[in-house]
Amino acid sequence: GAAGPMAARGWRRAAAAAAAVRPGPGRAPGAGPASEPVPGAAAPAAASVYVHWPYCRKRCSYCSFNTYVVPTVDEAAVRACLVQEARTLLQLSQVKRWVITSVFFGGGTPSLASPGTIAAVLEAVAGAAHLPAGAEVTLEANPSSTTTQRLAGFKAAGVNRLSIGVQSLDDAELRLLGREHTAAEAQAAVEAARGLFPGRTSIDLIFGLPRQSLDAWTQGLEAALGLCDDHISLYQLTLEWGTALAAQVRGRALPAPPQDLLADMYQAARTTLVAAGFRHYEVSNFARKGALSTHNLSYWRAEQYLGVGPGAHGRFVPRGEGGCSREARVQLPEPIAWMRAVQSQGHGTGKRVMLSPLEQLEEVLALGLRTDEGIPPERWGRFSPHLSLEAVFGAPGQALQQQQQQGWMVLDGGGLRCTARGLAVLDSLLPDLLCQLQRAWGPAAPGPAPGPGRKDPGAVPGGDAVGP
Ligand SMILES: *[C@@H]1O[C@H](CO)[C@@H](O)[C@H](O)[C@H]1NC(C)=O
Ligand code: SF4
Repeated sequence: GAAGPMAARGWRRAAAAAAAVRPGPGRAPGAGPASEPVPGAAAPAAASVYVHWPYCRKRCSYCSFNTYVVPTVDEAAVRACLVQEARTLLQLSQVKRWVITSVFFGGGTPSLASPGTIAAVLEAVAGAAHLPAGAEVTLEANPSSTTTQRLAGFKAAGVNRLSIGVQSLDDAELRLLGREHTAAEAQAAVEAARGLFPGRTSIDLIFGLPRQSLDAWTQGLEAALGLCDDHISLYQLTLEWGTALAAQVRGRALPAPPQDLLADMYQAARTTLVAAGFRHYEVSNFARKGALSTHNLSYWRAEQYLGVGPGAHGRFVPRGEGGCSREARVQLPEPIAWMRAVQSQGHGTGKRVMLSPLEQLEEVLALGLRTDEGIPPERWGRFSPHLSLEAVFGAPGQALQQQQQQGWMVLDGGGLRCTARGLAVLDSLLPDLLCQLQRAWGPAAPGPAPGPGRKDPGAVPGGDAVGP
C-alpha cells in the first residue's frame, strides 16, 4: 500500500516521462531555479535530501560506514520509518515549500532495498515539498545487487542516476577489499546501468591498496575508462580504526602504502582522466559532458539538505528560527533505536547543534574549496555579509598570499578557489586558511556574537532521540 497523495503519484509519472524524453546528462548542475536564491530571501530556495539505507549483506574489509549486517531486515518497518521521518523533517525545516533539487539514496547498500521502498520515500518527499520531475535522484548500487531487472525497477520508482561501487576491476584486489562481487560482475553491472541510465551512471574506484603498484593502478584505471560513463569518483583507501584491513596493517600482515606513492597515484589518475576529457571538478570527482553530481555539489556549495535514515546528517534552517540559524542534525545511528524513535515521535534525530556564524563560514570554506569553482563572492556574502573574502584573506603577508605565490590558490573577482595543482594538496592548505578566517573573525570582528557561539539544544548522552 504505497499509495501516496495524488500529487506524489503524479510526480512519478511526470518523472518517468521526463526521463523518457531526456536521456543523457540532463540539466547542468547549477542551472535552473535550484541554486538561485529567491530575491530578498535570506537563504537559497532549494534543498536536497539524503536517505540512508543501513544494511549490507557482508562488511567490506575497509568499511567504517554506518552499516549493519543482519540475518533479516523488516523492510516494511524500515520503509514506513523512512517515509515518516522524511515527512517530519520536511515539516520541521523551512524546506517545505521549496524545490528539492536532488535526492540521494546511500548506505549501506540501498540497492538491496526494494524499488517499492525507494518509490515510497520519493512519494513522501514529493507529497511534502516540491520535487520537480527533472530533479536528480541517485541510488548507490553494488554490483552484486544490480541485475538489469532490479535496475529497471529502480528506474520505474523514479531513480534517474546510479552510482556503482565498482572499486576495482581486479579480482585479487576485490578479495582484499572484502567486496562481494568479482570484476566480471562489476563490468556487467556498469553495462546494465549504462543501458538504462545513459550519461547518468557514475562509478567509484579505490586506490592505494596495500602492495598495489603505480602500474597496477594505472592499468586498472585504463580498464575502468573503457567501461565507464561520464562520472568517476576516486577514493584513496583510508585505514579506519576498527576495520579488518586496518588491523591487518597494524599487525604487519600487510604494508601501509607509502605517502609519496599515494600522491603519485592521484596525479597519474588526474592526468589520465583529464586527457580522456574529464573535468576534475572536485578533489575526488571527475565528470565529462557536464555530468557533475548535482547532489554532491549542493553539499560543497553549503546549501541546505535533510538527512533521513539511521545516522544520516543534515544541515538546515529550522522553521521559524530565522535565516541565520543553520542547524546540524544527526539521526540516531543504530537502526532499531532509530526506528523506535521514529515510531514514537516521528523522527529519530539523535543530535542537533546550532552552528555559529563562524562555524558556518568554516564549512563554506572547507567544502567550497574542494571544487574547481571554489567560493564565489555571492555565496560568501550570504554567510558573511560584513566581511568579504578580500577582507578575510586578501591582506599581504598572510597564508593565502604565500599559497597564491606557490600557484595553489586564486583570489579574484570570481572568488576564492584552488588551482588544479592546489586541489591535490588542499588538505595541507586548509588549516592555514581556517586560522586566517578565525583571526579575521576574532573578538573585534563585526557580526553576531563570537565567544562560545554554539548552543547545543539537543546533545543527549545515552543515545536517546531529541525533540522536536
Ligand atoms: C556524494 O554524496 C553521497 C551522499 O551523502 C555520499 O555517500 C558520497 O560519498 C558523495 N560522493 C562523493 C564523491 O563525495
Ligand atoms: S558495501 Fe559499502 S557500506 Fe557496505 S560494507 Fe561495503 S563499503 Fe561498507
